[in-house]
Amino acid sequence: MYAGGGEWAGSSGGVACVSVQCRAQCGLVFAMAARCGGMWRLPRCPLLVRTVPAARRTGSERRLSSKPQTPQICIVGSGPAGFYTAQHLLKHHTQAVVDIYEKLPVPFGLVRFGVAPDHPEVKNVINTFTQTARSERCNFIGNVTVGADVTVEELQRAYHAVVLSYGAEDKRELGIPGEQLQGVYSARDFVGWYNGLPDNRHLFPDLSSETAVILGQGNVALDIARMLLSPLELLRKTDVTEPSLEALSQSRVKKVWLIGRRGPLQVAFTIKELREMLNLPGTRPVNDPSDFQGLGDVLKDLPRPRKRLTELLLKSVEPPGEKEAARRAQCQREWGLRFLRSPVAVIPGDDGKRAAGVRLSVTRLEGSGDKAVAVPTGETEDIPCGLILSSIGYRSVPICPDVPFLPKQGIIPNTMGRVHGAPGLYCSGWVKRGPTGVITTTMTDSFDTAQALLEDVKSGALNSSDPRAGASAIRELLLLRGVQSVSFSDWEKIDAVETAQGEKVGKPREKILDTEEMLQVASR
Ligand SMILES: Cc1cc2nc3c(=O)[nH]c(=O)nc-3n(C[C@H](O)[C@H](O)[C@H](O)COP(=O)(O)OP(=O)(O)OC[C@H]3O[C@@H](n4cnc5c(N)ncnc54)[C@H](O)[C@@H]3O)c2cc1C
Ligand SMILES: NC(=O)c1ccc[n+]([C@@H]2O[C@H](COP(=O)([O-])OP(=O)(O)OC[C@H]3O[C@@H](n4cnc5c(N)ncnc54)[C@H](OP(=O)(O)O)[C@@H]3O)[C@@H](O)[C@H]2O)c1
Repeated sequence: MYAGGGEWAGSSGGVACVSVQCRAQCGLVFAMAARCGGMWRLPRCPLLVRTVPAARRTGSERRLSSKPQTPQICIVGSGPAGFYTAQHLLKHHTQAVVDIYEKLPVPFGLVRFGVAPDHPEVKNVINTFTQTARSERCNFIGNVTVGADVTVEELQRAYHAVVLSYGAEDKRELGIPGEQLQGVYSARDFVGWYNGLPDNRHLFPDLSSETAVILGQGNVALDIARMLLSPLELLRKTDVTEPSLEALSQSRVKKVWLIGRRGPLQVAFTIKELREMLNLPGTRPVNDPSDFQGLGDVLKDLPRPRKRLTELLLKSVEPPGEKEAARRAQCQREWGLRFLRSPVAVIPGDDGKRAAGVRLSVTRLEGSGDKAVAVPTGETEDIPCGLILSSIGYRSVPICPDVPFLPKQGIIPNTMGRVHGAPGLYCSGWVKRGPTGVITTTMTDSFDTAQALLEDVKSGALNSSDPRAGASAIRELLLLRGVQSVSFSDWEKIDAVETAQGEKVGKPREKILDTEEMLQVASR
C-alpha cells in the first residue's frame, strides 16, 4: 500500500518501499512486518528526500539546498583511526556532526582487542576517545557491520562524507603446507582469544606442548611470547579474560622460539618491548651469540632507533653479571630469537592431524639494512613443537564491492586519505596505509585525513550544500532490518558491568565475551 509522501507500508511477510523512486534507489524489501505480523506504517523514507533529481525540486527545496549545510560525516570503525579522525573533525569544524559506526557492540578496536593486557597504560587513550564520543556532535553507533547491515553507498547517500577507518581485521596467511593443522594458530586469533574478542572466545589453544614457535619477529610476536611466559600472578592483575587465565594456568609451555626470516638488523619489534622481554620475571633469554657476530662493527652506521635496539640485542648475549646469572639460573622458562629461518611447512604428527614441528628454510640475506631480502640457501632445519603461532601481520579486507581496494597491498587506494575515484569517500588508519604502526602513527595519519576532508569542505570540493539526513536515515534502515544498534551510553552500561565484575577479582575489568550478552546489558 502506498502511504504517500515517500512513506512506507506493508502487510505480513515483509514491508517494501512502494515508491518507484525509492525502489530504484534503494531496492529494499524489509522483513520487519514478519516479526510483528501486522500492518506497518513506517516513517518517511529517508532516502527519498535526497534522491529527487535537482531539476524536479520545488523552489523552496532549491533554496534550501543552496544554503551551506552542517557537514554530516560518518566514520566506519571505532578504533584509534576512527576516534582520532572524529576528534580532529570536531575540533576544527565547529558545526560538523560526526557519527561513528562500529561492527561490534563495544568501541575502541585494537585498543580493546589487540593491545596486550599487561600494557594498561597504552589503553589510557580510551579516556580521550570517550571525551570525543561524549561530544554533543558525535554519535557512536555500535553493532552495525558496514557492508552487511548497511552499505557504504547507503552511508554516502545519508552523509556528505564517509571515512573508512575499519582497520585490518584479517590475518596474513603463510601459505605453507600444514598451516591448517591442529596446534597452529594465527596471532590474530590468539590475541583475540586472550583479549576477549567474541569471535575467538572458543579458540581454546592447545598449550600442552613444552615448546612453542612464534613465526615473525614483530611486536605482536613479543606480546604473544610474554603472554605465554609471564608468571600467572602478573597476568591475574590485568584484563586478560578469565577462561584464558584458566588455560594459561594449565599451560605446559616452557620454551618459546621467535623465528625471523631475516637477521638481527631486520627485527621488527622495538626497544621498549625487547627490554620488557629481557626483564620478564621467571624467564631467561637463550640467544646464540654467534648470530650477532660482526654487528658491533656496523652499529655506528645505523639510524638511531635501530642502533639502540641492536645495542640492546648485543647486550643480551654478553655474559651476564653475577646477579643476573643467578636470576637466570632460577628461571623455569626461556625464550630465544632464531634468525635467517623462513617457514616452509608445518610437520604433521603420526595422526596426520596435529602439528609436531615446523620446517624452516635456512636463508641468507641479499642486500642490506631494512631492504635486505631473505633468499633460501637450500638447507632446512626442523624444530619439534606442538604449538605454532603465525605472527606475520594483519590484513585489511574489502568492505563493499563498489569501494576501491588494492588486494595486493591490502589498502584502499588514496592520496592523503582521499579515496581514488570516489569523491566524498576518505580513509584513515591501517586500512589507509597497511597494518603497521603504533597508535601515535595512526593518530597522525588520521589527523591528516580529517584535515584533507576539512579542506575539501572549505574549498567546495566536497559538496556539503545538499541537506543530508545523517544518522536518522541510517537508524531507520537499521530498525527496518532488525539491527539493534548500541549507543555510547549503552556501551557505558557494558563498561560498568565489566568493571564491576573485574573489581570482584582484582582486575581492571572482566570482559563480556558474548555479543548477545553485551546487547542484553546494553538494552537494560
Ligand atoms: C596485537 C596488537 C597489539 C598492539 N599493541 C599496540 C601497543 O601496545 N601500542 C601501540 O601504540 N600500538 C599497538 N598496536 C597497533 C595499534 O593497535 C594500531 O595502530 C591501531 O589500532 C590501528 O587503528 P585502526 O583504527 O586503523 O584499526 P583498529 O584498531 O583495528 O580499528 C578498526 C575498527 O573497525 C571496526 N570494523 C571493522 N570492520 C568493520 C565494518 N565492516 N563495519 C564497522 N566497523 C568495522 C573494528 O571492529 C574495529 O573496532 C597493536 C596492534 C596489534 C595488532
Ligand atoms: N607494544 C607495541 O607498541 C606494539 C605491540 C604490538 C603491535 N604493535 C605494532 O603493530 C604493528 C603490527 O605488528 P606485527 O608484529 O603484526 O607486524 P610487523 O611489525 O610487520 O612484524 C611482522 C613480522 O612478520 C615477519 N613476516 C612477514 N611475512 C612473513 C613471512 N611470509 N614469513 C616469515 N615471516 C614473515 C616480518 O618479517 P620481515 O621483516 O622479514 O617481513 C616481521 O618480523 C607494528 O607496527 C607494531 O609495532 C605495537
